[in-house]
Amino acid sequence: MTGTSLREVRTFRDLQALSEAAAQEIVAIARASIAARGRFTVALSGGNTPKRTYELLAELHRSAIDWLHCEFFFGDERFVPPDDERSNYRMAREALFDRAPISADGIHQIPTDTSTVEEAAESYERTLRRLLLVDMNEPDTIDLVLLGVGPDGHTASLFPGSSALKEVLRWTRGVDAPTAVQPAVPRVTVTLPFLDGARNVMFLVAGADKRRVLGEILSRTESALKYPAALVAPSGRTIWMIEQSAAPAS
Ligand code: 6PG
Repeated sequence: MTGTSLREVRTFRDLQALSEAAAQEIVAIARASIAARGRFTVALSGGNTPKRTYELLAELHRSAIDWLHCEFFFGDERFVPPDDERSNYRMAREALFDRAPISADGIHQIPTDTSTVEEAAESYERTLRRLLLVDMNEPDTIDLVLLGVGPDGHTASLFPGSSALKEVLRWTRGVDAPTAVQPAVPRVTVTLPFLDGARNVMFLVAGADKRRVLGEILSRTESALKYPAALVAPSGRTIWMIEQSAAPAS
């Protein structure tokens, strides 16, 4: 068995229903975080699934969030310029940042203008450590990390078999994407130690190509340990938001 933290699994009829529920949940976590600690820190995920959730946050929930007390980070980034159509930052900018009253000071993108992806990872590690340390008496951590799952069981840019999975101290790593994963460009990714410290982790999963791996991951059996998504075990809450076609048969 893997993962002993508080886990919720919710299934939705389509991506729109999933996105509505995810946006509502994010609003609730944001409000509770701001009430408790004066700000909301969140790492966004890339891929296609979260786009609608981001749009709903900016449109439907625009007045429910105190945007000036939100700090946006990223769980991973493709090593491409920020205006490249493969950039996770670009997707978040178009779906969320450009549509809501978010201050540029609250957006912490992963740099992609360094000479190597490893330098970018080191620079982002410093950013995370500096900005997530609030109080010397509390562990530095993030309120919410949004994640996706690939058909190969990857999450963020932690791919099966990657040496980055063995990381025990660092919060970020530079990695190569396997050629089967598109876009197959180097990435910066957060690591398991970072994810495991999060107060909340929310997986957003859609598409029938995820169904088989999700069945194994949610069953928490030993065989699932080959999938990076199954290795995420935050001390806080884990919420699985699954669109019907990705949901394993119950
Ligand atoms: C990335 C991601 C990656 C993604 C999954 C799911 O940059 O590619 O962060 O981990 O979340 O591959 O992607 P979809 O939502 O597009 O299926």
